[in-house]
Amino acid sequence: MTTTLYVPCDASALSLGAEATAKAIIAEAQRRGVEIRLVRNGTRGMLWLEPMVEVETAAGRVAYGPVKARDVAGLFDAGFLQGGTHALALGALADHPYLKNQERLTFARVGITDPLSLDDYLVHGGYRGLPAALAMAAPAIVQEVTDSGLRGRGGAAFPAGIKWKTVLGAEGSQKYIVCNADEGDSGTYSDRMIMEGDPFVLIEGMTIAGMAVGATRGYIYLRCEYPHAYRTLNQAIATAYARNYLGQDVLGSKRAFDLEVRLGAGAYICGEETSLLESLEGKRGQIRFKPPLPAIKGLFGQPTVINNVITYASVPIILDRGAPFYKEYGMGRSRGTLPFQLTGNIKHGGLIEKAFGITLRELLYDYGGGSYSGRPIRAVQVGGPLGAYIPASQFDAVLDYEEFAKIGGMVGHGGIVVFDDTVDMAAQARYAMEFCAVESCGKCTPCRIGSTRGVEVIDRLVAGEQKQEVLLRDLCETMLAGSLCALGGMTPFPVLSALNHFPEDFRNVNRP
Ligand SMILES: Cc1cc2nc3c(=O)[nH]c(=O)nc-3n(C[C@H](O)[C@H](O)[C@H](O)COP(=O)(O)O)c2cc1C
Ligand code: SF4
Repeated sequence: MTTTLYVPCDASALSLGAEATAKAIIAEAQRRGVEIRLVRNGTRGMLWLEPMVEVETAAGRVAYGPVKARDVAGLFDAGFLQGGTHALALGALADHPYLKNQERLTFARVGITDPLSLDDYLVHGGYRGLPAALAMAAPAIVQEVTDSGLRGRGGAAFPAGIKWKTVLGAEGSQKYIVCNADEGDSGTYSDRMIMEGDPFVLIEGMTIAGMAVGATRGYIYLRCEYPHAYRTLNQAIATAYARNYLGQDVLGSKRAFDLEVRLGAGAYICGEETSLLESLEGKRGQIRFKPPLPAIKGLFGQPTVINNVITYASVPIILDRGAPFYKEYGMGRSRGTLPFQLTGNIKHGGLIEKAFGITLRELLYDYGGGSYSGRPIRAVQVGGPLGAYIPASQFDAVLDYEEFAKIGGMVGHGGIVVFDDTVDMAAQARYAMEFCAVESCGKCTPCRIGSTRGVEVIDRLVAGEQKQEVLLRDLCETMLAGSLCALGGMTPFPVLSALNHFPEDFRNVNRP
């Protein structure tokens, strides 16, 4: 009898030795004359347990982790192919506390299926949204997305349906669907996890977007630091073409949708939508003035939908299950779910897909298990490098776009970076200014010059020149009000939150 095993091919698992684990399993099975089928799945998102090996047993799928190559022979000895007991045994993952209460809508298949098997995608509920969309008129598809309450998951949380409606109504000889897969925010990897773990859901979502607005061509703009995602996406796209899910006659509908992946060189600013479009056109990644909006004049001057990976990946289930189903999740104006990503100094780092409304504390302690170091968590940065630092006194804040903004926070792309009480918050503020100086596209003065001056001012403040605080606050105000885009315009958030919540770190007292 052939036993099926799963070893993730996700970059996070690979970085922890999954390739060596997979090879050791194959070699050990051959040595023992045991027949196995090894599937390379995506990660379940419990990253501290990677490389995680799952075995299909008579009683269902059971997991072991973290499994290093050196553990493999012992696992065979323990009869793990039949679900045998072992120190690394995790049992059935459906019952695991980390996964049990998650609300996996967008990530429903990630870690479960073979990412490159279209048949596996179909068996697990894939390609149900696209046929539904093909049976609808374009405005009805847009209306369904609007009614679901889906907002952009890339950071700005703009309603997806309104953007799509603008493109649907815009005049243009060729409309485009562009996917922002630049994923530059610190502590984020949900886009990568989808692209490596369930690429067809992104392809399906983008195809639905094409049908909704009348666009026949799509591009995935992917950062070059994601080589595994690049390979996976290209193979999945080739399969989708071969099986008629992409091309000139999508599923026999006589409607066309072509899709390709373009690699970016990896500049943070190329994640901003207008810079991304410049880069996609082969130019230097620099901000464009708005208006015109990309929805009116985007790629090559044509009407363009530009959305984040998770935004598109959330669309198939909306078209399959209907807007009311999706809208059931969440609170206020933040509907549906968000894949939160726990990173930094955290015991159980990983991906947690939950409806909006969960608190930071629940994520940090119920899921994350507290800090990795075992020391108290002092601050977290939510929403990438432009997000505010949240002190422990605000960990009961609810993660909903509007509620979180009330405490000066930004949910953004859902990345949460954790720091324990050894963190130097003045150094973090300096880092925010330095990051802005390095990544600035140089188009406007408050950001280009202000960020460099900001580093100098923080250095002087920390050195004991207390009056520099007024200057730093003035500078932040100028950057906030005068920058052309959110890189310069939001860098003051991490800087000022550090200064306001942790003023003691900016004083020269007690420093060596
Ligand atoms: C400096 C900067 C960097 C950004 N980086 C990204 C990114 O890496 N990925 C992303 O999806 N959106 C990023 N955005 C947001 C995009 O400009 C844009 O809002 C997004 O692509 C729209 O898609 P959505 O509505 O689906 O979120 C960035 C914005 C700024 C200002
Ligand atoms: S704020 Fe910075 S990144 Fe944005 S346009 Fe100005 S110089 Fe460029």
